[in-house]
Amino acid sequence: MRSTLLRTKSIEQSIQDTVEPEHALKKSLSALDLTVFGVGVIIGTGIFVLTGKVAKENAGPSTALAFVAAGIVCALAALCYAEFASTVPVAGSAYTFAYASIGELPAWIIGWDLVLEFALGTAVVAVGWSGYVRSLMDNANWHLPSVLEGPDVPGGTFDILAFVLVLVLTAILVVGMKLSANITAVVVAIKVTVVMIVIVAGLFFIVGDNYSPFIPDPVTPDVGVGWEDAPMAQLIFGYEPTNFGVMGIFTAASVVFFAFIGFDVVATAAEETKNPQRDMPRGILGSLLICTVLYVAVSLVVTGMQHYTKLSVSAPLAEAFKATGHPWYAGAISFGAAVGLTTVCLILLLGQTRVFFAMSRDGLLPRFFSVTHPRFKTPYRPTILLGVLIAVIAGFTSINELATLVNIGTLFAFVVVAIGVIALRRTRPELHRAFRTPLVPLVPILSVAASVWLMLNLPGETWLRFGIWMAIGFVVYFVYGRSHSRLGRGETEFPPGNVP
Ligand code: ALA
Repeated sequence: MRSTLLRTKSIEQSIQDTVEPEHALKKSLSALDLTVFGVGVIIGTGIFVLTGKVAKENAGPSTALAFVAAGIVCALAALCYAEFASTVPVAGSAYTFAYASIGELPAWIIGWDLVLEFALGTAVVAVGWSGYVRSLMDNANWHLPSVLEGPDVPGGTFDILAFVLVLVLTAILVVGMKLSANITAVVVAIKVTVVMIVIVAGLFFIVGDNYSPFIPDPVTPDVGVGWEDAPMAQLIFGYEPTNFGVMGIFTAASVVFFAFIGFDVVATAAEETKNPQRDMPRGILGSLLICTVLYVAVSLVVTGMQHYTKLSVSAPLAEAFKATGHPWYAGAISFGAAVGLTTVCLILLLGQTRVFFAMSRDGLLPRFFSVTHPRFKTPYRPTILLGVLIAVIAGFTSINELATLVNIGTLFAFVVVAIGVIALRRTRPELHRAFRTPLVPLVPILSVAASVWLMLNLPGETWLRFGIWMAIGFVVYFVYGRSHSRLGRGETEFPPGNVP
């Protein structure tokens, strides 16, 4: 039993799978494409929306430190991701890496977890996008019926804009990777320009007093915080729940962590990269570094422009400019945010269809989903299925509770990848690694500890929801995946056509 659950797929077999013409994705991406890809998905709701919320509720001006803390967690994870991505250059991200190193059950768990992360992440960003578009429409005095504004709006039920956005992006992904990468490049340029405008123009409106105190004193919330809302660490160690202070920085870090999600998605495109051994680590680390610097700068500027207690929780970047009497900047920032969130959605959607594709190709999910389109060479079946599902979720669901669930899922993936680096060094020391994680096992161990610490700063309810999702995953694996696994059946070749 143990050996079945921990059977591993060889690296050679993983790479061989991508050569089968029916199942091969086009290899068209360069290191620059990957970096653009990374920045395209990383900068989004996190910096444009969550910055204001955590500054106001958890960390004040020290939100910049929360970004540094979350950035360090991601950098440690990135060093592990980069080794795996450059050793196992096939589709599937942490899922594939885990399958090649730790075993089938852990790989299933992580794949199941990643589908949740990307699907809900796409929905969260689509709803955030819809909010910015509505705000621009309001400027033009053009309003949707409130029932179509989404469940976050009083009187709203269905978010028509988020729904349509996800469907349009699904169609783009079905048509082809290169097309979406080109669109991404243009949109990323607009988004980065807007972020630079915030930083450079905002510098002139900073008031030094707003930074004092830089780390506000701890505050005990007025109303008793139930187990649902209290961070897991406080529940375990029995602290009195507080906001602000040093602990507030970590609470803030566990939320703004959402702003970094996406660098790991770059790894899911390994199979579509021309030279993954060289370009993957460059793409992952490069995009992460650029975003960390921008986030720290933006959060310092925004909390310097407006006192943290007055920041907006829905559009803090734009509102800070309005508050200093510069509505023109606010309009441009809202426009850039709306445009920028489009690519975030697109790439999260892409990442999760690729994980689903890889799991199906391995037989852990029905193989119907692993046949690529004869002309576009895209995994169109999971793209369409998941795209429609996410469009519906985005249409009907409120964004708040989903974001923390996305974070816990991603942090869990980081833990598995870091353990995988250590495992693969032991089981396959001879493998060529274009990029080697420095100081193994120290860096992977630090990565595990840092990720677990951020997970512990997430609310009890998030842990419960995550547990339920993973429990469903176990059932699916034992009822379907385990017995249909291509590896378990000893198959090394795909059946001709692979159409059920
Ligand atoms: N990092 C992405 C965002 O902030 C998911 O929206």
